[in-house]
Amino acid sequence: MTIEERIISGSTQEEDVAIENGLRPRRLDDYIGQENNKEKFRIFIKAARERNEALDHVLLYGPPGLGKTTLSSIIANELNVNIRITSGPAIERPGDLAAVLTNLGENDVLFIDEIHRLNRTVEEILYPAMEDFALDIIIGKGPSARTVRLDLSKFTLIGATTRAGLLTSPLRDRFGVICRLELYEQHELAQIVRRSARILDIPIEEKAASEIASRSRGTPRIANRLLKRIRDYAQVRADGVINLQVVQDAMALLEIDPLGLDGTDKKMILAMIDHFNGGPVGLDTLSAVTGEEKTTIEDVYEPYLMQIGFMSRTPRGRVVMKRAYEHYHRSLDEKSE
Ligand SMILES: Nc1ncnc2c1ncn2[C@@H]1O[C@H](COP(=O)(O)OP(=O)(O)OP(=O)(O)O)[C@@H](O)[C@H]1O
Ligand SMILES: [Mg+2]
Repeated sequence: MTIEERIISGSTQEEDVAIENGLRPRRLDDYIGQENNKEKFRIFIKAARERNEALDHVLLYGPPGLGKTTLSSIIANELNVNIRITSGPAIERPGDLAAVLTNLGENDVLFIDEIHRLNRTVEEILYPAMEDFALDIIIGKGPSARTVRLDLSKFTLIGATTRAGLLTSPLRDRFGVICRLELYEQHELAQIVRRSARILDIPIEEKAASEIASRSRGTPRIANRLLKRIRDYAQVRADGVINLQVVQDAMALLEIDPLGLDGTDKKMILAMIDHFNGGPVGLDTLSAVTGEEKTTIEDVYEPYLMQIGFMSRTPRGRVVMKRAYEHYHRSLDEKSE
């Protein structure tokens, strides 16, 4: 099974797109959780608005599905400016970026998703644009070539990435605000589930919302996706109301356990326990036993397994923690020294 097909993948799937647009909070007050980050942005946004200036450039990073795109639109909305959305891989040539930049209005937001995937020649256009709001264009070729500097409107670049570590340092250094999104707490996810159920007009009991939250791997996108699958189940197999029993039955059918782990997580953890004595195990080995890309393991599986205390990263590799042994009914005593 590829990561795209997994119901508990944090990445976007086709049917998410339409639904996500309806569920996306539009204001900072409706954006649940990330309290620390929200507080920072409230202050920066208010200050920028009072001075009638563009907000400093912002880098948002963290695992997929935590609300980077959502937060960027909210920031533009709260600043009362337009947002232009694009992505690293979509900007192929310097000219593409130049076209986007020259079309921005005063104080607008330019959102570049997957900013770590910008190519170098494009990235170099971005440096003077971010720093001096200027575009250096080379006119002509060979010895007669000269550079012309074009002024741009002041704007805010918001870059999003799952991997801040892959950004070049000159690019990273040009962001005034660097902001890491954290996996969500269970009670925050429960609130997100209740909000989405209300918007989609799905009757849901309190305990059922909490149960979905517990199985969402700290990720709003997964919470919303599970809610939709459970709604289908409730409609066909129950009376349409989502209660605790319906959640448990639907999750059993989808083979998602009470902590939100599925067969791939189990395979990875049990391979580490049964064949590698609990680790340390290298990323290459984990990739081989699960058949998943290394980057997927790092971006999608590990953050959650580490959050719930199943795995930790050491300089020598990944090790399985006590909680994982208990969860999968493996005895720690069998672990030889
Ligand atoms: N704080 C939040 N409160 C309520 N809903 C949220 C929140 N964060 C995210 N969501 C919901 O989760 C969905 C996914 O969020 P979003 O697309 O912003 O994630 P992302 O971090 O940009 O993911 P990716 O890395 O794949 O681009 C959104 O449709 C939104 O409904
Ligand atoms: Mg996104």
